Parts: sequence; C-alpha cells; structure tokens
Amino acid sequence: MSAIRIAPSLLAADFARLGEEVRAIEAAGADWLHLDIMDGHFVPNISFGPGLVKALRKHSAMPFDVHLMIAPADPYLAAFAEAGADLISLHPEAGPHLHRSLQTIRALGKKAGVVLNPATPIECLAHVLDLTDLILVMSVNPGFGGQSFLASQLPKIAALRRMITESGRDIALQVDGGVTLKTAPDCIAAGADVLVAGTAVFGAPDYAQAITGLRGGA
Ligand code: DX5
Ligand code: ZN
Repeated sequence: MSAIRIAPSLLAADFARLGEEVRAIEAAGADWLHLDIMDGHFVPNISFGPGLVKALRKHSAMPFDVHLMIAPADPYLAAFAEAGADLISLHPEAGPHLHRSLQTIRALGKKAGVVLNPATPIECLAHVLDLTDLILVMSVNPGFGGQSFLASQLPKIAALRRMITESGRDIALQVDGGVTLKTAPDCIAAGADVLVAGTAVFGAPDYAQAITGLRGGA
C-alpha cells in the first residue's frame, strides 16, 4: 500500500484569504489541494468555478484535485483542465455517459476520477476501471463541509480496495466527508490512501499538526 496522502478541501478555508490559505497548507505538508465545485443544482450549494482554480494555480505546486459536483459536467471539463486541474473527478449521476466523460478527461491530459455518493453502488465502476485513476467514496452526502462521517461507507471502501487489488491497476482510493482525527484511522484501515479533509484541517489551530495527525502521526 502506498503512503497516505492528505488533500485539504478549500471549501473550509477562509474565502477572503484563499491564496494565503493554499500556501499555508502546502507549507504544512498537504499533498494535494481538493477543490469542490458545486452548482446549486446537482448539490444544494454553490461554491466557485474555473476562474478561481486558475487564480490559485500560481500560488501552489500541489496537484489540484478538482471534485465536480455539477450536472452536466461534460461542457466544463476543458475549462477546468485549462484552469490547472491535475485530476478531475465526477459523479456517474452527472451525465448519461460516464465512459465518454472519463475518455474526455484523459484526452485533455488529466487524471480521471469517479465519485460514488453514499447510495451509489460500486458496480458502476466495473467496466470503466481502465479509464479510472482515482475512486472517491463520499462519506457524507455532497454539498456541504462539516457533516458527520457515515460509517456505512467503510465496507464500501474495503470492497473497492479489493476491486482495485484484483484489477492490478494503479488507482487511488480517496474518501471525502467528515474525515477527522477520529474517523481517519478507520478509512485507512479499510484501504483508503487519499483523505480529503476540510474542517479537520482549516478548522484546526495548527495546519501541520492536523495534516500529520490525519496521516497517522508519521
Ligand atoms: C462535500 C465536499 C467535501 C467537503 C468536506 O460535498 O465534497 O470535500 O469540503 O468537508 P469536511 O471535511 O468538513 O467534511
Ligand atoms: Zn469534495
């Protein structure tokens, strides 16, 4: 198993000081920056778009992990690629052709991720693993930071870890929602290797301590 990577979610940062916040988490040891894109339609909240991603790009060398909670997503894939995303993830429910969307992301030269809502079964991934670089398990219903972790998703993480191992492919397994110092160990034990954390990082007094703690203390 590869090392645990921590991807702080910008949604919990101080929106009046975003450049500064991104530089601070990078200096604190964050591995990726998780950028939550919400459209007020696919999820009941609105966050920000490609213009902000582009503006932040020059403040950081971290991989930009863009989580699209928008429908349709296809018309915006190129814009996020051009804005500086390294990885673009979308939900199967965002459009009728997941395979085509993943092909489009790969053709843009970016890594492609599939996000599973709490009720979405893992079987929808079975025939697209060859186009998938990352699987994201939502451990809350998407739309808001600061929600409670759904422990019902732990067996799903474990099942996905088995699916990835059996496939022999290099696919990251990410968890997003309610990841804290208390819930992170369960996610890691179930097989996750990338943890998204908003409140647990940006709500902490010491970002470096929070990131180290989430990673398991190492
Ligand atoms: C929720 C977002 C998450 C959110 C996580 O829809 O996808 O990335 O920012 O926030 P916390 O870690 O506070 O649950
Ligand atoms: Zn997210």
